[in-house]
Amino acid sequence: MTLVHRDPGIPNGWFAVAWSKELADGEVKPIRYFDQDLVLFRTRSGEPKVLSAYCPHLGIHMGEGGRVMGETIRCPYHGWQYDGNSGECTVIPYCDRIPKAARVKAWPA
Ligand code: FES
Repeated sequence: MTLVHRDPGIPNGWFAVAWSKELADGEVKPIRYFDQDLVLFRTRSGEPKVLSAYCPHLGIHMGEGGRVMGETIRCPYHGWQYDGNSGECTVIPYCDRIPKAARVKAWPA
């Protein structure tokens, strides 16, 4: 699996972060690249996804105890779910309104 990095200071391009065989369906792993904490997971449809690791709710690292729910990862603390493609929060279990700021950076993988 590779990530694309487009921030200034690091050359644009793809960077290997894991072998595909190292990540089973539904598996979640914390990784650290580009001096940032990230969470790598494989969705139930089999796609690898990479998001910034810290939940914007209270800052929990989703690579430590996060669970894959369909195409999202669920924060282990209060269960907010983040879409693997966009990084947007799609579910807050106890609330119907999702704040616009409830999103994490999604990395093309
Ligand atoms: S800290 Fe992630 S849902 Fe509350």
